[in-house]
Amino acid sequence: MATFASAVLDTPLIDSYLLKLFRFRTRAFLHMDEAPGSVPPLPKESAGCLYIHIPFCEVLCPFCSFHRVQHRHSQATRYFAALRDEIRLYHTAGFTFTSVYFGGGTPTVEPEELVTTIDLVRELFGVSEISVETNPKDLRPDVLAALQRAGVTRLSVGVQSFDDQLLREMERYDKYGSGAETIERIKSVAGMFPTLNVDLIFNQPHQTLASLERDIAIFQSLGANQVSFYPLMTSPTVERRMVGAMGLPDQRRLRQFYHTIVQRLGGEFRPSSAWCFTRRGHGTDEYIVAADNYVGVGSGAFSYLDGTLYCTTFSLSAYEQRIAQGLTGITTCHRLSETDRLRYTLLVRLFGLFMDRKSILRQHGRRFFRKLWGELLTLRVLGAARRDARGWHLNERGMYWLMLMMSAFFESVNNYRDAMRAHVKNELHEPAEMCAPVGGSLRAAPVNVG
Ligand SMILES: C[S@@+](CC[C@H](N)C(=O)[O-])C[C@H]1O[C@@H](n2cnc3c(N)ncnc32)[C@H](O)[C@@H]1O
Ligand code: SF4
Repeated sequence: MATFASAVLDTPLIDSYLLKLFRFRTRAFLHMDEAPGSVPPLPKESAGCLYIHIPFCEVLCPFCSFHRVQHRHSQATRYFAALRDEIRLYHTAGFTFTSVYFGGGTPTVEPEELVTTIDLVRELFGVSEISVETNPKDLRPDVLAALQRAGVTRLSVGVQSFDDQLLREMERYDKYGSGAETIERIKSVAGMFPTLNVDLIFNQPHQTLASLERDIAIFQSLGANQVSFYPLMTSPTVERRMVGAMGLPDQRRLRQFYHTIVQRLGGEFRPSSAWCFTRRGHGTDEYIVAADNYVGVGSGAFSYLDGTLYCTTFSLSAYEQRIAQGLTGITTCHRLSETDRLRYTLLVRLFGLFMDRKSILRQHGRRFFRKLWGELLTLRVLGAARRDARGWHLNERGMYWLMLMMSAFFESVNNYRDAMRAHVKNELHEPAEMCAPVGGSLRAAPVNVG
């Protein structure tokens, strides 16, 4: 019976059907409207996480789907000052946070500015978790010591692969170092921070199964205690850039690659979301899983507060101007329908592998189960999740589907970013093929980090 179900359900046909269905749903999910730039109303429950976007990078990788620009010292210094002013606005309005996530771009491009900003966040909110993204090149003793002193609890290093050929294709080899150099740098950081995360990307166009297995084995030898294994995600603009440098990914290999990751990491690591794996005994998950509500500050950041999605301007100069006028960076927002809000909660919780019944009842009441009975039944009938007295637990089939759904969701976010970045292309100093035509889809979904 199990084999029959597997022969029907665990197939590329079902994958592509699920992806199409989910893309369709996500497209219909959001229509962004103009928003006033004031601080949003306080949510009923604490916002939990503050996301801070630092959009500067030394090189602009061809596969990258985030809002990032070429790093310039003077612009970055002004930007950090504006960021701190925006953070103070939320503090004055009464927001509280328990964790902060610095994402990018590359937050460590200006270490002193970053540390000053961390100090401010700690002083204002007394956060206990501080997560910072970086690249292998910035793992320098001076930067690491400054981050340690600042109280960083999670350092996340973008590695993508240890395979030199793939690093060259990703245009990272020259700037961020070879696989061997990255291995040495990461080994030297092990133990310095409570959580050391490594970002790797699977299903790269020229990645073989052997190369993926080698990446997994190398990761396991480094002493890092977490890995975020992202499927290569695209958008029309990212594809245009990627096609010349790297080629395009073959979605039919996703299932085999994903199961290889889950199986090879199993035992020593436990999944803490559908694409994040943490060494047994450690506990930091990605922020999105823990909190429905979050605030995003900086240019090109999303916030989600009590069912409303907000997005800040992608123009760095407009961002500075708005902050100087005493506004936030928010320029667009969308109030989700009740069903979409519940579906969003379902997606986010299941992505974290476990949906706690009590917390759902506290947050949404019984209507959550009344409205989403079809989705919940489907999950059980298809053998993606099991239910017990505590709630819903995702199994390996469910993890794979959630990984697919989350990547479809991120691709919608990427489409939105493409469209917004096209409006400010004069500021981005990128070749023409890096910008989507103005007037592309403005519909998207939230989420700041991968
Ligand atoms: C915003 S980057 C920050 C890390 C840092 N800038 C670096 O690249 O070393 C966070 C992570 O997003 C992931 N990422 C970026 N673009 C992606 C894409 N198109 N598909 C999958 N993952 C992607 C990469 O793994 C990257 O390390
Ligand atoms: S992957 Fe990292 S370094 Fe490369 S462009 Fe994206 S944010 Fe910048």
